[in-house]
Amino acid sequence: MADLIPVLNKDEIEKMVADVAQKISDDYKDSELVLIGVLKGAFVFMADLMRKITIPVKIDFVGISSYGSNTVSSGKINLTRDIEINIKNKDVLIIEDIVDTGLTLKYLIDYLKSFDPKSVKICALLDKHERRETEIEVAYPCHRLEEGFIVGYGIDYAENYRNLPAIYQLNLN
Ligand code: IMP
Ligand code: MG
Repeated sequence: MADLIPVLNKDEIEKMVADVAQKISDDYKDSELVLIGVLKGAFVFMADLMRKITIPVKIDFVGISSYGSNTVSSGKINLTRDIEINIKNKDVLIIEDIVDTGLTLKYLIDYLKSFDPKSVKICALLDKHERRETEIEVAYPCHRLEEGFIVGYGIDYAENYRNLPAIYQLNLN
């Protein structure tokens, strides 16, 4: 049996997302902003976030797999879907569900920089800051967490729980 312990409810998520969307809209008001969502985990967050951003924006997605059916990072990162939009000289904001060790995003930032964007920054729904193993800056963190394995609001465990409308800690017994 698995226990789901509530971490953030729907209202808390909605407020967090609205706040960060406001900051992004202010900071990028004079730029050509491209949001790049990291599939699959960030798709729910991205869908809510982009509808609260009030400036013109383009969107694209990358697919990255770094985990198997496990709660521990495999350390192996594969690009399973590439961007389609030309990001040269554009301001890119990576939209991620959770930053944990940071290894996935370190890889993705280096990859996206090879297309010569004007800037590349990170917006993350959840930031497990203390678990970082590499130097990356999350410019727009919505919520900081110290520990626990999280599911819901797009985020999975072995492809399950993505449809939960709120965010939970999963305890496997
Ligand atoms: P990192 O490379 O260690 O930063 O791993 C980040 C990726 O691992 C995220 O994109 C998530 O997909 C996944 N991940 C990290 N922590 C969790 C978690 O608590 N629940 C579900 N997925 C997670
Ligand atoms: Mg992910």
